[in-house]
Amino acid sequence: VCVSADPAADVHLRQRAENLATQLALPLALESPGPADADLLLTATSARLELRVLGGDPTIRGGHPVACELTTIDTTSPPGRSLQQPLLKALGIRRGSAYRPTILDATAGYGEDAYLAASMGCSVLAVERHPIMAALLDDGVKRAVAQHPHLASRLKVMHRHSRELLQSIIDESFTPRDAAALGPFDVVYLDPMFPSGRKTAERKAMKVARWLVGGDEDAPDLLALARQVARKRVVVKRPLHAPTLDEHAPDVVHRGKSLRFDVYLTHRA
Ligand SMILES: C[S@@+](CC[C@H](N)C(=O)[O-])C[C@H]1O[C@@H](n2cnc3c(N)ncnc32)[C@H](O)[C@@H]1O
Repeated sequence: VCVSADPAADVHLRQRAENLATQLALPLALESPGPADADLLLTATSARLELRVLGGDPTIRGGHPVACELTTIDTTSPPGRSLQQPLLKALGIRRGSAYRPTILDATAGYGEDAYLAASMGCSVLAVERHPIMAALLDDGVKRAVAQHPHLASRLKVMHRHSRELLQSIIDESFTPRDAAALGPFDVVYLDPMFPSGRKTAERKAMKVARWLVGGDEDAPDLLALARQVARKRVVVKRPLHAPTLDEHAPDVVHRGKSLRFDVYLTHRA
C-alpha cells in the first residue's frame, strides 16, 4: 500500500498525503504514474480519502475506488427505513419508544451500521483496529458530520483494538476520553467479517476490506468480553444461515433477508 494525492500538484492534498504516510508508516507515491509494485493506493482527493485497487484479486482490481461513503445511505425513505428495521429491533429500539441506547461498535469497518444507529438517535463509539480502515472511517465520519452537524456528539471514531478497549473497560484501569464521553454502553455491537465462501455475493468494498483485514477469526474473544461490558445486550450480525459466533445460543434472533442479528441479553444496568 502507498499513499498518494490526486491531483498530486495540489499542495494541501500533498500535505495531507504526507501526514497520512507518516501516521500510517506507509511509503509516499506522489509522482505520477506511481509505483508499479503497489497493489493499493490510499489517495487523498479534494472530495475524500479513497482506496484505489491497482493489483491483487482480479475481481476487485480497477474500477471504482473504495471509500467510506455514509451520507449516501438511505435513512429517510420508507424502503430505506424498512431495511433498518431488523437492526433497530436488535438494538432494542421499539416502535414509538424514545429509548436510544449508547453503543460501542467494536468492529466499525466502513461505519455504515454505526452511522445508521447514530442517525436514529443513538450515541455510537465506532472502534476500528486496522489503520487503513480506520483512516477511511475517520474521513467518512468527518464528511458525514460536516453535512449533518447534529451527529458530531453522537458518532465518534477510535482507532484501537476493541479487545484492549473492552478489557480496559472491564478492568476500569483506563477509560479513554471518547469512551468515557459516550459510555457506559448499553449495547456492544459486533459485525466481524462474514465467513468466506459467499465471496461472489460480497460488494467490492467488503472484498477490499477482507483483503486488507483478513477474516476476523478472533471475533469469539470479542463476544466473551462484550458480554461483560454491555449493560443491556450484545448484538452480533451474522449471515442468515451461519453458525453462532461461539457455543452460546442467542436469547433472541432478528432475521433480515440475507442476514440476522443474534442478541445476547446481559441486563447489567
Ligand atoms: C465486516 S466489517 C464491519 C462493517 C461495518 N459493520 C459497517 O457497517 O461498515 C468488520 C471490521 O471490523 C474490524 N475489526 C474486527 N475485529 C476488530 C477488533 N477486535 N477491534 C477493532 N476492529 C475490529 C475489521 O478490521 C473490519 O474492518
